[in-house]
Amino acid sequence: MDSKNITTINPLPKPLDGSTTVAGDKSISHRAVLFSAMAEGTSRLIGVLDSQDVRSSIAAVQALGAQVNLERQVDGSLSGGITGWGAKGPSQPDGPIDCGNSGTTARLLMGVLAPWDIQVTLTGDESLTKRPMRRIIAPLMKMGVRFEPTATEHLPVTEIGNPNLKAIEHDAPMASAQLKTAVLLAGLSAEGVTTVNEPAPSRNHTEFMLPEYGAVTNAAYRTASVTGPCTLHASEVNVPGDASSAAFLICAALLKPGSSIQIENVSLNPSRTGFIRTLERMGADIEVRHIGAEGKEPFGVIEAAYNDKLIGCEIPPQHIASVIDEIPVLSLVAAHATGITVFRQVDELRKKESDRLDAILEGLGKMGVDAWVENDDLYIEGQPDLQIPDGLVFDSRKDHRLAMTWALVGLCGDKPVEVENFDSVKVSFPDFLTKLEGLSA
Ligand code: S3P
Repeated sequence: MDSKNITTINPLPKPLDGSTTVAGDKSISHRAVLFSAMAEGTSRLIGVLDSQDVRSSIAAVQALGAQVNLERQVDGSLSGGITGWGAKGPSQPDGPIDCGNSGTTARLLMGVLAPWDIQVTLTGDESLTKRPMRRIIAPLMKMGVRFEPTATEHLPVTEIGNPNLKAIEHDAPMASAQLKTAVLLAGLSAEGVTTVNEPAPSRNHTEFMLPEYGAVTNAAYRTASVTGPCTLHASEVNVPGDASSAAFLICAALLKPGSSIQIENVSLNPSRTGFIRTLERMGADIEVRHIGAEGKEPFGVIEAAYNDKLIGCEIPPQHIASVIDEIPVLSLVAAHATGITVFRQVDELRKKESDRLDAILEGLGKMGVDAWVENDDLYIEGQPDLQIPDGLVFDSRKDHRLAMTWALVGLCGDKPVEVENFDSVKVSFPDFLTKLEGLSA
């Protein structure tokens, strides 16, 4: 039986103030682990996120024969070496690989496994086994990979790789970095150029990071390609702070009167900072300073301060991928703004760790905020003087980004709220609460 695990979240005692950092970027951490496992030689990684999702990728590559010597540092990150399987390929694992809650692990692994003559069963938790996989399976099958059962949309699935992969040009039906990455990783072993074209640009860490491992990539607006065959060689990666985690702290500062914070060493990859552009358009006091780049990944400082002048805005379909993981928390900010905010074409939200579109409507509804969906567009009518009802209980649906979004209602307001399965934050941001409490001390 699934017993209800409820956490009471109390208001922060003071406005948020001061400077902090956030743990390593989840997308970059997954890629650093997987690309290092594929590479010949020992890669050196610094600042890898230690979270449940990244642990799923680490456990997977270990099961496939990579040697992982990452150690937890005083700042809570993982650093050390990964010796990959390189040209000899991964070994046949003893049993199925459990990707836990991590869509990135499962989908990227499908690309990693594509060229190898082994049979690997991939599975996941209750949420991951409901998420769509055919978007990856179909293009990989075109390249020559076999899957059993063939017609499946869901994990578990057994993948049987093919050492003679065909290069393809794939027109992706949706903007998805996971899909793009899986096909490009398979393409590394195919003779010739493998290309993925997207309806809108998705995050581009793969295109930025693969050349550091010696791959030839080509990327432009809505298209990316690799030229194979190519064996990756070991690299060094210093993972910047996670912009998606930073977004929760920034939005907390925008919701808690009197707050003013700064987040250092955070990824400023433009494909991830759509939330900053959106908040700027909503009238937020938010500033960005570029400090440098790790390889091609830019990083810097984000500053944000409370004001009472937020206004609604419209986020067009081509910008949705750049804010996709931040839509729950941006919806909460929109609920406090003057006027209506519209996120256009957000059907992909239904296919995340939970149906986030439905969850946003449910949560905002509990708060007394009018929000609705029409033709896959999400509308939120903000209330600048919103009074939160007493005794709210939010269901996180075991989804980390929902757990953090609804926790902010209690943390930044003036009455406690309860969040079911709040501990799902460990998927991406294990020290979410301690970071916010530290800024409010
Ligand atoms: C991710 C891509 C996005 C994002 C996910 C991480 C990645 O998913 O929502 O949290 O690391 O490639 P999609 O590729 O399904 O859009």
